[in-house]
Amino acid sequence: MTSQALAFATTDAELPFVPALEAEAPVDGALRPEPDRHVLVIGGAGYVGCVLTDALLAQGYRVRVLDNFLYDHFHVAEGLVSRPRTSLLVGDLRDRGILDQALGDVTDVVLLASVVGDPISRKYPDLARSVNLQGSRALFDAVAGRGLRRFVFTSTCSNYGLWEGEEPATESAPLTPLSIYAETKVAFEKLLLERREATDVEPVILRLSTVFGLSPRMRFDLTVNEFARALAAGKKLEVYDKDTWRPYCHVRDIASAIIAVLQAPSEAVAGEIFNVGSDQNNLTKQQIVEEVLRHIDGDVRYVGAGGDRRNYRVSFSKIRERLGFRCRFDVPSVIPQMIQAVRCGLYRADDDGQPRYGNYVVRPEVG
Ligand SMILES: NC(=O)c1ccc[n+]([C@@H]2O[C@H](COP(=O)([O-])OP(=O)(O)OC[C@H]3O[C@@H](n4cnc5c(N)ncnc54)[C@H](O)[C@@H]3O)[C@@H](O)[C@H]2O)c1
Repeated sequence: MTSQALAFATTDAELPFVPALEAEAPVDGALRPEPDRHVLVIGGAGYVGCVLTDALLAQGYRVRVLDNFLYDHFHVAEGLVSRPRTSLLVGDLRDRGILDQALGDVTDVVLLASVVGDPISRKYPDLARSVNLQGSRALFDAVAGRGLRRFVFTSTCSNYGLWEGEEPATESAPLTPLSIYAETKVAFEKLLLERREATDVEPVILRLSTVFGLSPRMRFDLTVNEFARALAAGKKLEVYDKDTWRPYCHVRDIASAIIAVLQAPSEAVAGEIFNVGSDQNNLTKQQIVEEVLRHIDGDVRYVGAGGDRRNYRVSFSKIRERLGFRCRFDVPSVIPQMIQAVRCGLYRADDDGQPRYGNYVVRPEVG
C-alpha cells in the first residue's frame, strides 16, 4: 500500500490509526539527517520504544509506531502522536491485516514488541510464546520482498544465562536461556540467522543489557530502577543473590545504539549480532545498592538465593570497535536523577496499590 493510499484509508476512521502531524524534518542537531527513512517501531509505545521514537525524530526520521498497549499504558500515546512525523497504529503484530497497513511505506523495521521479562513471561507463557516467537516469525515472513533497508531485532543478554567464563561473554559465547523469555529470544535469533540467505531482509540482532533510566513509559521491574525507587521511597529492600553480575545500559544509549545500526553500512551490520552496553556497566546487585546508598540512607537486607539464577558479565568490544558505539551514561551518574524523580512524586499514581509502572498485568482483551 502506498503512503497516499494509507493516508486515504485513515479518513474512513475504521482503522485504529492516528496519522502523523506533517512538518519539515526536525533535523536540527542531527548528526546525519535521515529525512527519507521511515521507521516502523513495533512496540514503540514501550519503555525503550518511547525514547527511541523521540531519538529517531531528532535525527530526522519519520516514525510509525505499531503497539497494542499490552499493559494498558495508553497514557504514552499522546506523547507519541503530538510530535510531528509520528503516526500510530494501535494493534497487534500478530494481526496480518494491521501488519500490512503498518508496513505500507516504511523503509526500516525495529522489532521491540515482546512479552518482556522473565516474570511476565512466566505468568503468561502462552502469550509470551505466541508474541515473541510465532508473532515475530510471522512478521519476518511479512517483511520479505518489501525491499526494507534494515530489520533490527532487540534480543537480550539474558540469553547468556549463566556465564562462568574467565572473560566476559562475547557474541559467540554459548547461550544458556534460563526462562521462557530468553528461550523465545534465542529461538527467534536462530530463525533470523537461518532464514537470512533466503530473503532480501538484512536482520541485525542486538542483545541488550538490562536497561535503566527514565522513560515516558516507566518500568520499575528492572533492577536499577527498582532499587533506586524502593530506597528513594523509604521502603525496605530485599536483595537476592547480591553477588550476581549483569550488564546495564541507559535507555538513551539503547536508542543511540539502534540508530547507529540503522545508519551503519550494510556490510558492517547485516546478519550480525551485537551486545549493547558498556564494559563499565557490568555490575553486581550489591554494587548498584551501594551506589544508591551513596546518596540516601536505606534499609537493605541481603538474602540468599532467589529464583533467578542469571549471572553473566558481557563484552561490548564488538559494537565499540565496529560501530564506534560508546555509552554516554553510567549507573552512578543517573541514580541521583532517579531518586529525585521518585521523591518529586512522579510515580505516586501507584500509591493506590495497583502497580502501573512495569510489566505486571496484561490487558484482558489482548492476553
Ligand atoms: N528493558 C530491558 O531491560 C531489556 C533488556 C534486554 C532486552 N530488551 C528488549 O528490548 C525490547 C523493548 O523492551 P521494553 O523494556 O521497552 O519493554 P516494554 O514491555 O516496555 O515494551 C514492549 C512494547 O511492546 C508492545 N507489545 C507487546 N506485545 C505486542 C504485540 N503482540 N503487538 C504489538 N505490540 C506489542 C507492548 O505494548 C509494549 O509497549 C524488547 O524486545 C526486550 O526484549 C529489553
